[in-house]
Amino acid sequence: MMTPHFVGPPDAPGLISDLEPEIRRLVDGLLDGMRGKTRIDAVDEFAYPLPVTVICKVLGVPLEDEPRFHRWIETALDAWEYGPETASEEFRARLAGGNQAVQEFGRFTAELYDRYARQPGPGMLSAMVNEDGPEGRMPKGLLTSNALLLIFAGHETTVNLIAHSVLTLLRHPDALENLRRRPELIVSGVEELLRFESSVQFWPTRSAVEDIDIAGTTIPKGAPIFLAYGSANRDPRQFTDPDELDLERRDNQHLGFGQGIHFCFGAPLARLEVQNAVGEFVRRVENPRLVEDPPPYRRNQIFRGPRHVLVDIDGIRD
Ligand code: HEM
Repeated sequence: MMTPHFVGPPDAPGLISDLEPEIRRLVDGLLDGMRGKTRIDAVDEFAYPLPVTVICKVLGVPLEDEPRFHRWIETALDAWEYGPETASEEFRARLAGGNQAVQEFGRFTAELYDRYARQPGPGMLSAMVNEDGPEGRMPKGLLTSNALLLIFAGHETTVNLIAHSVLTLLRHPDALENLRRRPELIVSGVEELLRFESSVQFWPTRSAVEDIDIAGTTIPKGAPIFLAYGSANRDPRQFTDPDELDLERRDNQHLGFGQGIHFCFGAPLARLEVQNAVGEFVRRVENPRLVEDPPPYRRNQIFRGPRHVLVDIDGIRD
């Protein structure tokens, strides 16, 4: 019998921290690629390629498949919407497209499963296919849907945080300068940037297990609940001057990664990526200036982030 070998944190404590040298190399490579340019897109050339490359490596998803799953994710996100717009013909067409994209994405992760079942390879997915966890082997259906979730969750929100961090710092030159002079502020700085511009605005997966009274209103048992993290992160009862960016904010108990038993599983990886990416961007990019403010935003109610952030630059330091 194969010895149980648990493949993810916390049972593989080095899995994320050991990625740091690779993350730094990737960040350096992306910044080196901007040499000689006077205008860059901080989303397409920086915020997007890093997390997608890292999550593919962690999971063992071939990077050459990125254009395919990128398209499925974009199409599915276009159809993830709530509110009156969902009654329109136009939305129903988008929903059909979104459902089809999710099905194709599911077939893709099922093919990955089959490939790794035939021939084990690198990464977490292959290990999950071939090894027992605490409750035995994970069934194929569960594994392929988790693979889909991890590919999606593993980069989408991180892209938005890197893009928002660049945008927000360029809008706050004092904070940018402070971070350039005191690079150690990147740790508290990234928490503040996530509080200030929440990648996940709300999360539509909870419901009341019993009647709950809040501020004179009763949420009846069984009612769906949307936890509005973006709003909580600007709550003046929790944060002093919530609309001010303060990279040194103390006791910053934001809800950018959620809270409770569903707290973001990927937060340590996201933090490592964003700290390295934003820290190096600030250190190496010479005289960055926003070209367009506000930039165009992606169309989604839950996942918020700019589609492009054009930045004029004078050069890239070593
Ligand atoms: C800046 C980047 C990220 C942000 C802002 C973020 C935010 C969140 C939020 C708000 C939740 C919902 C928590 C809740 O239900 O209360 C969540 C859940 C989750 N995230 Fe992230 N996330 C990020 C990166 C990642 C990465 C890199 C991964 C995977 C490697 C990941 C995997 C997950 C998973 C699997 C869940 C579901 C956890 C559960 O339901 O138990 N996330 N994330």
